[in-house]
Amino acid sequence: MKYETIIGDSLDIARQLLGEDECVAIPTETVYGLAANAYSPNAVQKIFSVKNRPLYNPLIVHVGNMEQLLSVVAYLPDAAIRLLSHFSPGPLTLLLPKNDIVPDIVTSGLPDVAVRIPAHPLTLALLRSINFPLAAPSANPFGYISPTKAAHVKDMLDTKIPYVLDGGDCTEGIESTIVGFREGVPVVFRQGVITKEDIENCVGLTYQNESKKPVSPGMLDSHYSPHTPLYLTDDIESMIRKFGTEEIGLITYNEYYDALPTSQQIILYEKDDIKMGASKLYASLHEMDSKKYKAIIVKKLPDTGIGLSINDRLWRASRK
Ligand code: TXA
Ligand code: MG
Repeated sequence: MKYETIIGDSLDIARQLLGEDECVAIPTETVYGLAANAYSPNAVQKIFSVKNRPLYNPLIVHVGNMEQLLSVVAYLPDAAIRLLSHFSPGPLTLLLPKNDIVPDIVTSGLPDVAVRIPAHPLTLALLRSINFPLAAPSANPFGYISPTKAAHVKDMLDTKIPYVLDGGDCTEGIESTIVGFREGVPVVFRQGVITKEDIENCVGLTYQNESKKPVSPGMLDSHYSPHTPLYLTDDIESMIRKFGTEEIGLITYNEYYDALPTSQQIILYEKDDIKMGASKLYASLHEMDSKKYKAIIVKKLPDTGIGLSINDRLWRASRK
């Protein structure tokens, strides 16, 4: 089915389409999501088709408040209650035992459901005005760069969905932190702007995620990738020697490199404002990819806190 993909800010239109089992892109504080009624296997199936996403890769369920959250999970460990009261609504996703009401297609048959309360006012209002939760992965084709603007979604999914609910630019800019529990102790599976240290400051020590297998298939090596080859490196000079200066784009931080025209560079953040770096990351990758350079060179960020979260995405973006 082909649609005329409309960008707008009408909650009524979004609500009506979702009620008809259609997919609607929704804004969140992290990235735009591709949403559908989580209780309808038919609607959820469409998410997988639109994204070209394999069915073994489960979806996050978005809810508007604690009451709605409690209707999709069977049990909440104490640490989960503490994390929720501290970080929700916000960029935190918890893996919790699911209730029977959640169809298997949402969790790819896994016993846990990933659930979060997003902090975007428009999407919160939407969630609180419907009587079903929204399953929503990031609104990009499988493996490609995540969207942080309504226009990114339209560029990537034009004619595949009827509506993009426009909530402006995503403020946080990278996907939520995913936390599971082993015997009630948290395990961080994916780090976003809420870091492992933030989790530990809230609930004490976490278990190390030692699994080599992707428990979260979003931990697949290749992900978030532009079409242009991307190189994540500390050694910008040697990349410039390798590719020359004419057909490369450089993403860096704090200051420009003299060797390249500034028009070929993007400064992710200045004055060590790493949160700014997260919020600009995907828009910078989309912009660089649209220029069709031979290579996108990215200077590796300091490997601490949110820098680790961004480097993780960039490393995956550099894998083919
Ligand atoms: O910030 C976010 O989390 C965004 C916005 C839209 O909420 N969503 C997002 O969804 O990043 P997605 O599908 O791109 O990434 C979700 C990750 C995937 O790696 C998926 O495998 C994992 O969460 N996941 C989902 N449900 C799971 C489950 N039941 N058990 C283990 N991993 C799960
Ligand atoms: Mg994704």
